[in-house]
Amino acid sequence: MLVLTAPAKLNLTLEVGDTRVDGYHNLDSIFSELCLADKLLIRAQGPPGTLVFSVRGLPVPEGADNICVTVCRRLAADRRDLPGVEMVLVKAIPVGSGLGGGSADAAATLVGLNWWWGLDLTRRQLGDLAASVGSDVLFCLTGGQARVKGRGDIIEPLPFPGRKLWLVLLRPPGPKSTRLVYEEFDRLPHDRRRSPRPDTAGALRALATGDWGSLAKSLGNNLEPALAVSHPDVGQARVLLEACGALGTAMTGSGSTVFGIARDRDHAEAIGREVSKRLPGPGWWKAVTRLASREEGDALAGCHDRSRRSTSGGEEHDG
Ligand code: C5P
Repeated sequence: MLVLTAPAKLNLTLEVGDTRVDGYHNLDSIFSELCLADKLLIRAQGPPGTLVFSVRGLPVPEGADNICVTVCRRLAADRRDLPGVEMVLVKAIPVGSGLGGGSADAAATLVGLNWWWGLDLTRRQLGDLAASVGSDVLFCLTGGQARVKGRGDIIEPLPFPGRKLWLVLLRPPGPKSTRLVYEEFDRLPHDRRRSPRPDTAGALRALATGDWGSLAKSLGNNLEPALAVSHPDVGQARVLLEACGALGTAMTGSGSTVFGIARDRDHAEAIGREVSKRLPGPGWWKAVTRLASREEGDALAGCHDRSRRSTSGGEEHDG
């Protein structure tokens, strides 16, 4: 059996620019791999052509709609001879939350089945497939930390922070559609599309020196106003994290997860406990986690061995 780790991503900063001719938007973002992760188990099952797929953990579509099934079918297209497989996806990353869970699962499926079936696809071929599945899948193949530009296809790797960055993640109830958030962004008047604008250069300097106070001041994601139109609970999540002691907060990706920066692990756990006590209602999800470290990222780069441990999961609060 092969066990793969599919780590969530966080957009420490995100600046969304103009619409491109292909309908996508240009980005400038610092992407970081988190310790929070899904797991994908792959084992032999049935005659050639068999795919048995199931999900455990947080809810996610189980059938042909699941991105793991899409990727599997795409890899197996025109091949009837490939050994039958069973894939079990263990979900810890909530769906539609800006944490790249689907993209991470897609990347793990690509890497896992490439190895399991001995397809010998090169990194370049895997990259082309990844980009065709979704904008964030390419980063998830690479992992670690990177400045990401273009549609998500220009990846400039960054060093891992020397010091551990601990975070509290907080997501208001219900998944959000990335496409709808971008459509809402396009409807905003121009002046409302510019803030909260990150100080990307400042964030890079702060990451390099481990100065989390400065990093907290450099955060920003100008997609937030697009989501805030219909989901004021995103602003509520930031206020709550700040009231509980976070050094700074921002939304990740197209939301609706908000993250708060902590000084260290103890501080993150204290913020997490305080947030749990003050949640405004049912259905909120919270996790205390941190950016992946160099060793964890190196294991990912090994590509065949993504079987790393996730150090921290999330909790769903039902009231
Ligand atoms: O590529 P992916 O399927 O993840 O993107 C979902 C939607 O998000 C796209 O259909 C597009 O509307 C929007 N998007 C965008 N610009 C990006 C990434 C995503 O407009 N760079």
